[in-house]
Amino acid sequence: MGKKAAITIDRMVKEDLDQVLAIEVVSFTMPWSKNLFLSEFRNKPISLMLVALSGDEGRFVVGYIVCWVFVDELHILDLATMPQGRRRGIGRELVLAALRTGYEWGARKAFLEVRESNSAALELYRGLGFMQTQVREDYYELPVESAIVMTLPTEGLRRLLADSDNNPGDES
Ligand SMILES: CC(C)(COP(=O)(O)OP(=O)(O)OC[C@H]1O[C@@H](n2cnc3c(N)ncnc32)[C@H](O)[C@@H]1OP(=O)(O)O)[C@@H](O)C(=O)NCCC(=O)NCCS
Repeated sequence: MGKKAAITIDRMVKEDLDQVLAIEVVSFTMPWSKNLFLSEFRNKPISLMLVALSGDEGRFVVGYIVCWVFVDELHILDLATMPQGRRRGIGRELVLAALRTGYEWGARKAFLEVRESNSAALELYRGLGFMQTQVREDYYELPVESAIVMTLPTEGLRRLLADSDNNPGDES
C-alpha cells in the first residue's frame, strides 16, 4: 500500500456530483447516471452518501460511497475511489465511515454484492471482516458475471468499529 492519503469524510452534496460522476465512469462498465445519484438525494432518510475530500481548499473529491440504511441493515450500493489515489486507504476509510454512521442510524449488520472477479474490492471487504454468504449467478451484465454477496454480522461490525475508534488512522 502507498502512503496513507490525508482525507476528510463528509456528506455528499449535489455540487460534488460532477466529480463523483467523473470517478464513476472510469470505475464501472455500467456506471450510475446523474439521475440515479440525484434520486438518492431524494431517498431520505434511507440513503447515506459520503465523499472523501482531499486538500485544504475547496472540495476535491477523491472517492465516495452510497449506502442504504434500512431498519437494522446497511447495504453498500456504490463505492469508488479515483484511480490515481488507490491503495492509499481511502476506500477503507469510506466504508468505515459509512458503517459508523449507519450504526448510529440503527444498522447492526451490513451486506453488499461484488463482482466475483473484483479482487480489489473482495480484499478490501474481507480485510474489514465481511464474509462471503451467497453467490448470485449471472447477476451482472457487461460482462455477465456472478455476484458474491458479502455480509458483516453484528459482532464483526461492533468489533470493527471499536477497533477503529481505538486506532484512528490505523493502517492495519
Ligand atoms: C475497490 C476500491 C474502492 C478500493 O479503493 P482503495 O482506495 O484503493 O482501497 P484502500 O486503499 O482503502 O485498500 C484497502 C485494502 O483493500 C485491499 N485492496 C485494495 N485494492 C486492492 C488491489 N488492487 N489488489 C488487492 N487488494 C486490494 C488491500 O487489502 C488494501 O489494503 P493494503 O493496501 O494495506 O494492502 C477501488 O479499487 C475502486 O474504486 N475500484 C473500482 C470500483 C469498484 O470496484 N468498487 C467496488 C464495488 S463493490
